[in-house]
Amino acid sequence: MCGIIGYIGDKKTIPILINGLQKLEYRGYDSAGVCISNNGDLKTIKKKGKLQKLVDTIATQDIDGPIGIAHTRWATHGEPNEKNAHPHLDCKGEIAIVHNGIIENYSSLKKLLEKHGHKIESDTDSEIIAHLVEKFYKDDLESAVREALQLVDGAFGLAVIHKNEKKIIAARRGSPLIIGIGKNEMFVASDVPAILEHTKKVIYLNDNEMATISQGGYEIKNLEGKRVAEKVEEIKWTIDQIEKKGFKHFMLKEIFEQPEAISNTLRGRIKEDRIKLSVNFDVKDISRVLITACGTSWHSGLIGKYILESIAQIPTEVDYASEFRYRKPLIKSDDLLVAISQSGETADTLAALREAKEQNAKTLGIVNVVGSTITREVESGIYLHVGPEIGVASTKAFTSQVVSLILLALHIRQEKGLKVDKKIIKELFRLPKKIAEALKSAEDIKKIADKFKDSKNFLYLGRGVNFPVALEGALKLKEISYIHAEGYPAAEIKHGPIALIDEDMPVVFVVTKNNLTQKTISNMQEVKAREGRIIAIVNKGDKEIKKITDYVIMVPETVDELSPIINSIPLQLLAYYIAEAKGMDVDKPRNLAKSVTVE
Ligand code: M6R
Repeated sequence: MCGIIGYIGDKKTIPILINGLQKLEYRGYDSAGVCISNNGDLKTIKKKGKLQKLVDTIATQDIDGPIGIAHTRWATHGEPNEKNAHPHLDCKGEIAIVHNGIIENYSSLKKLLEKHGHKIESDTDSEIIAHLVEKFYKDDLESAVREALQLVDGAFGLAVIHKNEKKIIAARRGSPLIIGIGKNEMFVASDVPAILEHTKKVIYLNDNEMATISQGGYEIKNLEGKRVAEKVEEIKWTIDQIEKKGFKHFMLKEIFEQPEAISNTLRGRIKEDRIKLSVNFDVKDISRVLITACGTSWHSGLIGKYILESIAQIPTEVDYASEFRYRKPLIKSDDLLVAISQSGETADTLAALREAKEQNAKTLGIVNVVGSTITREVESGIYLHVGPEIGVASTKAFTSQVVSLILLALHIRQEKGLKVDKKIIKELFRLPKKIAEALKSAEDIKKIADKFKDSKNFLYLGRGVNFPVALEGALKLKEISYIHAEGYPAAEIKHGPIALIDEDMPVVFVVTKNNLTQKTISNMQEVKAREGRIIAIVNKGDKEIKKITDYVIMVPETVDELSPIINSIPLQLLAYYIAEAKGMDVDKPRNLAKSVTVE
C-alpha cells in the first residue's frame, strides 16, 4: 500500500531516498516524507500530495546526513494530510518510524499510551509504533522495537531510527520488506525497484523477522530475538526494464510489451508438444480447482474456469479472495487452490491462500513478483516472467496470467493421460505475433477514443470465455478514465441493463468468431434497435457484424481458449486512449495503489 525506503551509508542520503520514493510511487502517492538522522539530530520533512511537492520543499532546505528513512503513503487511517504523512516521531522527537500495513489494535494501544502521558499527534495507526518504541527505549533501539512489536496486532513493514544510534531497524509481518546489501551502505525498502540502481543483492525478510542494519552490515533475527539464517538473492531485473522507454506512460509501454512478455511466460515451458511446468505434486489426484484473486487477477481467474473445465476437464470455482476468506469455504485435501496475483502481496489473496492451506488443500501461485509473499507460501508456482508492471492498471500481467492458466490446464490434461490438442500449442506459439498484429490498430483506436471521451457511461458485453474480457475492459476504463462502465454477459442485457440503452450509451461488444457469434449478433441487433452506439471487437471477414456496428476493431483470429488474450489488447488501448484524451494521470489513478496489502 505504502512505499518505504531507508538508507545508511557513506553517500548523500537525500537523493537516494527521493529516487527510491519515485520508484515506489505506484504503491501510494497521497503524501510523502523523509527523516534524516545526522549527528544526534532528526530532521523531518513531510508534504501532502504528489512526491514532487516534497522534492520541491527539500530543494529549498539544507538537509542531509548518513542515515535516513522515507515513505510514500496510501491512506488507510486518517485523511491524506501533512500531519498523517510519515515518518512519525515519538514525543521527544528522538525516534522516527515509517510503516506500511495496518495496526489492528491501535485504538487500545493509543488509550494505553495516552494514559502514560504520550501525546499522539496524527490520526494514523502507525504513529502508535513510534510511541511504543519510545516507551521501551533504554539505549538499545533493537530491543525497544522488539518489545514494542510484541504488543502489536496486525500487519507491518517497518523501518525505525533513533537520533543517537547509527542503525536502522526493519521489521516485517504481512507487509513486504527487503534489505539491500551494498558496499559500505545498506538499504531497506518495500520493493526492489527502489534500490535496484544501487544494489542487486537483496534479502527478502520473512514474516516476524527483524533486521538491524548498519553501514557495515546486517543481522537478521526473529521477533523473539533469535538469529535466523538469511538467504541473499541476486535480482535479475535491470533498471532499464523499469523505465518508460520513450512511451508517454508506463501503462502504454506495458501494453506494447505484451508480445515479448507472453514469449517470456511461454519460454521453456513447452518442449516437443509437452508442457514443462515444475509443479511439486501430482495433479492427477486433484478433484477440483479453487481459484482465488482480486480485481484484474480475478478476471483472469474467471477465464481460467472456462479453460480448466474445457481443457483439463476439471471442475473449477472462482472466488473473490475477499469473499472466499470469510465465507467458510468447504475445502478438501484433493482440492487445488490457485492464488493469482501480479504483486504476490495482495492481503485478501494471501489470506485466502492461508485459509486453504489450513484446510490442507494443495496450493499453487500464479504470480509476477519474484520472492513476493504468495510465492513463498505456496507449494508450487508459475511465475509470469513479464518484468515489473508499474502502471497501476494491470495489462501485461493479465494476459500472461491467462497464458499461465492455459499452461496449467494443458499440464493437468497431459498428466491425466488425455491427448493434448496440438492446435492450442501451435496457437500459443503464434500469440506474440498475433498480439503484435492487434497492437497495430492503436492509431485507429485512438481516433475512436477521441469520439467517446466525453461519454458518461459504457457497457461492455461478451459471451462465453469472452464475458470476463468484457468485465476486464470495463474495469480498465473505470480505473483510469473515471467513466462509469459495466461488463455483462451479452445475453444478460435483456434482463435489466437494456433499459439503459439509448443514443448516449456506447456499447463495446467482444464478438470474435466462436460457437456463440450468431447469438451475440442477435444481442447486437437488440442494442442497435435501441440506438445504442456499438464498438465491436471482431475477426477479419465478419461482414454481417460490420453492417450493424458503428466502429469496428479487427483482431487476428485464434482458438476460442486463447481469444481473451488477443481480444483484451484493443480494450486496454481503448481505455488508455480515452483516459489520455481526458488528461488523466494514467499510471497513478486517484484512490488506487498498485499493491493492496491491506484488506
Ligand atoms: O497484485 P494483484 O494481482 O493481486 O492485484 C489485484 C488487484 O488489486 C489488481 O488487479 C487491480 O484490480 C488492478 N488495479 C487492476 O488493473
